[in-house]
Amino acid sequence: SHRPRLFEPLQIRGLELKNRVVISPMCQHSAEGRGRPGAWHLVHLSKFALGGAGLIFVESTAVDPGARIGVRDVGLWSDEQVAPFKAIVDFVHENGAAIGVQLAHAGRKAGSQALWEGGRALTMEQLHATGEPWRRVGPSAVAAGPEWSVPEALTPDGIAEIRQMFVAATERADRAGFDVVELHFGHGYLIASFLSPHSNRRDDEYGGSRENRMRLALEVARDVRARWPQEKPLFVRISAVDGTEDGWGLDDSVVLARELKAIGVDVFDCSSGGLSDETRNMNVPRGLGFQVPFSERIRREADVMTQAVGVILDGPQAEAILQEGRADLIAVGRQALYDPYWAHHAAHALGHDLRFEGWPTQHGPWLAKRA
Ligand code: FNR
Repeated sequence: SHRPRLFEPLQIRGLELKNRVVISPMCQHSAEGRGRPGAWHLVHLSKFALGGAGLIFVESTAVDPGARIGVRDVGLWSDEQVAPFKAIVDFVHENGAAIGVQLAHAGRKAGSQALWEGGRALTMEQLHATGEPWRRVGPSAVAAGPEWSVPEALTPDGIAEIRQMFVAATERADRAGFDVVELHFGHGYLIASFLSPHSNRRDDEYGGSRENRMRLALEVARDVRARWPQEKPLFVRISAVDGTEDGWGLDDSVVLARELKAIGVDVFDCSSGGLSDETRNMNVPRGLGFQVPFSERIRREADVMTQAVGVILDGPQAEAILQEGRADLIAVGRQALYDPYWAHHAAHALGHDLRFEGWPTQHGPWLAKRA
């Protein structure tokens, strides 16, 4: 029978994804100890492997302890964090999926509560009371909104340290066995705050013109690409539009994607928003596929592979996005929390794998015998 595009493999450098279903990175605020994933993360991520996804992303993973989104985020800033990630990577591989890690520096939005605690910014006093080396840094001394403290503007030395942190975390991601690194350049975190003229008011080579505002993003991507094995894919998540008037827009994203492609970035994961309080809440449901137009235009105009994300709910919707040439990969977030077996169910909705051959071997043959 005819195979849906959603279940066609995709080769990216040396990695073959078995299908186009990606689990979007989702913060769990559940690290054990200092930034280490534990049993929660093993179960949370592995269930998507059993559920048939081709590629699973670990949540935003901090490159520096002072730059976590939340106080219980996972990180790859220390060698102690490699082994617990490797245990998860190995289990996911044994169960037929690829796994990537999203590396992030939260910048001026470091230190917020989990949504179940209110999702608000913590004060620097609250953060320092944890005994951890928290720092809110940004391109300029401009706060992310009324509830956020003013960040320290990074010096050139501070910028150089941040580039080193991304490289060191990339090296650990390789040792942990990850197949993909995704750089988090979206949602108002550090790199996004350099891109947008709203948050970046610098007058040195990192601010002012678009070329200058893009400089740190390009440097980090170049540094990471040089350290990440050539056969492994590199993804970048961007906010295709930052959500402010006259801020970072889609034309800018097309230019950035072209430049990142030239550096060796393989896939552009097209999200949006998050720059400041008014736009930061990515958990608000908006229209079905509301960010797909960003993916479509960047894919066409920058001639790059893209990953669409945002309120993509079922197989037929995902299949149409691929058939219409609007993306190469489909990332699923909340709908995969609702249904960890999203990929298998999407296959069935598209008339694919009706014999359960893509399911775990422990389960598939029993399901095939079911009346
Ligand atoms: C997210 N999102 C997110 N994005 C990201 O780039 N890094 C992250 O760590 C997180 N964390 C996170 C946690 C939770 C619980 C949710 C629900 C979302 C955004 C997520 O990856 C996705 O882009 C959005 O949720 C939109 O897709 P869905 O949920 O509509 O499929």
